[in-house]
Amino acid sequence: MRNLVEEIKRLKEEKNAIILAHSYQNIEIDEVADFVGDSLYLSRRAKDTNADIIVFAGVYFMAQTAKIISPEKKVLLPNLNAGCLMADMINHEQMVKFKEPYPSTPVVCYINSTAEVKAECDICCTSSNALEIVKSLNTRRVLFIPDANLGKWVESKLDGVEVITYDGNCPVHNNIDIQDILDARKKYPNAKILIHPECKPEVSKLGDYVGSTSGIIDYVKAHNDKQYVIVTEKGVADRLKRDYPDREFILIKNDMLCESMKLTTLEEIKYSLEHEVNEITLDEDVRLKSAGCIERMLKVSE
Ligand code: 13P
Ligand code: SF4
Repeated sequence: MRNLVEEIKRLKEEKNAIILAHSYQNIEIDEVADFVGDSLYLSRRAKDTNADIIVFAGVYFMAQTAKIISPEKKVLLPNLNAGCLMADMINHEQMVKFKEPYPSTPVVCYINSTAEVKAECDICCTSSNALEIVKSLNTRRVLFIPDANLGKWVESKLDGVEVITYDGNCPVHNNIDIQDILDARKKYPNAKILIHPECKPEVSKLGDYVGSTSGIIDYVKAHNDKQYVIVTEKGVADRLKRDYPDREFILIKNDMLCESMKLTTLEEIKYSLEHEVNEITLDEDVRLKSAGCIERMLKVSE
């Protein structure tokens, strides 16, 4: 593995490339990554970079977002099968049909969606800024796609704002029920329970903290508690265990695994960078429309 890591680092330098990695990736990817974090952090890094090539160790919509906002860069997704189950729940036709009955209602689009869907929306958001984005619209009613759980979580935090949600979800997070959290509280009474808002809102309500993957990691950094129950994908618990060996991290369920996120390997990263294959391309009209949606988010959430 050492040779592989060294070879990828050499290729990065030779080709003026950077590697962006989501916190759900296999942990060894961190050895070659320039930046590791949540979807908002990685979007910002994709926008800021002076690199010629971005290798995205994540899922398709993340690499596509990087291409939307940095069109002059070559964006590579090492494994093109790395999709997102939630993003796949809504296509362009379903999007158009969903918003049809509400012609003057703003549409907020969770970043876990395709460029074609984003092109039909007013503003994008991520799990770390969804509340801030909906608030910024200063309106009594918004449409929210595709994550019904995140949309309803935002609604529960705002007074007098109706959030009309599309019926999508992340099967990994949607799999957690109230009873799982109650059981964890009983078993680990001193633990802090940290929850990703893709969980059902009634589940999120029971957490000591609710936030994005980076939000959860930052919470641990800012606190001194010794024990935490992690209610998101396993990659976050793995990184916390590595970075805080003197604390205890309990993954809420053993099957908190996003299979798509785990597809990418170091071998594939090397291959795609070396041969510059698996490039993300976009229709320019779709790119421009979806870029507006993302740029508006980045302006609000700077
Ligand atoms: P973050 O915004 O926390 O990175 O979440 C992205 C995601 O896909 C969570 O399932
Ligand atoms: Fe998509 Fe869920 Fe995987 Fe996140 S964890 S990338 S929402 S399938």
